[in-house]
Amino acid sequence: MEVRIYPTADAAAQGAADAVAVLVAAKPEAVLGFATGTSPMPLYRELARRVAAGLDLSRVRGFALDEYVNLSPEHPGSYHSVISREVTEPLGMRPGSVTVPDGTAVDLELACEHFERLIARAGGIDLQILGIGTDGHIGFNEPTSSLASRTRIKTLMPSTRADNARFFASIDDVPIHCVTQGLGTILEARRVLMLASEESKAAAIAAAVEGPVSSFCPASALQMHPHVVLFLAAAAASKLQQIDYYRYVQEHKDGWRVPRDGPARQDWEIVKR
Ligand code: F6R
Repeated sequence: MEVRIYPTADAAAQGAADAVAVLVAAKPEAVLGFATGTSPMPLYRELARRVAAGLDLSRVRGFALDEYVNLSPEHPGSYHSVISREVTEPLGMRPGSVTVPDGTAVDLELACEHFERLIARAGGIDLQILGIGTDGHIGFNEPTSSLASRTRIKTLMPSTRADNARFFASIDDVPIHCVTQGLGTILEARRVLMLASEESKAAAIAAAVEGPVSSFCPASALQMHPHVVLFLAAAAASKLQQIDYYRYVQEHKDGWRVPRDGPARQDWEIVKR
């Protein structure tokens, strides 16, 4: 796992937006995985700013990570609403180009299987954008989620419902169940970037990066993935034991490169398959 530390959330978002821009330049029809919640919003805002300045994301397709069960897609707190409001519209993507898990399907288990098939049919996810919960969840894979799990129904931890109550009139309105991509699904994305900016995430970040791989901290499963970069504001990095080393790596990141003939393949570039 590569850890990049920035003074602010906006600076971290710039780094993450560079990664998205490099990928989309190499593969305009890239498939992105979109997290919702607060953490990726500075990235989406920065991408919207670049779209207004000429970045073209109109051919990008995507998949959301999760959705609440039995919450109307029209509810402003539903991830269907968040994805249209914060992603597809401001980023100039085609309406419907981001598929969100269906939390209102009559047969939810079948809908989960269908969602997995849609990802496979799209050729898999090129770049998954993640936030992290205070309990270490990614997507809504709460602690003790199987490291091999696929898209399925989960029960939210009371602490996650409390964290997300800010998007609802009261905590009682936060659904108890959700549908989420599994850890196995997330681990199949070709690249993963994670954003975290708040001090409240520092313990989860430390457990994910430096703790054992354990379903007790679902984000620690990312240690098994070959291409994960964390874009952290300093507050979210504040509990990392090896923080000096990560800063040192960041500072010397490209120091090993020697000039060669021809353009070097850029970081984040994924060659079209
Ligand atoms: C949401 C998601 C969650 C959030 C996490 C952090 O689609 O996948 O894992 O990323 O709950 O949420 P925020 O960023 O609101 O603190």
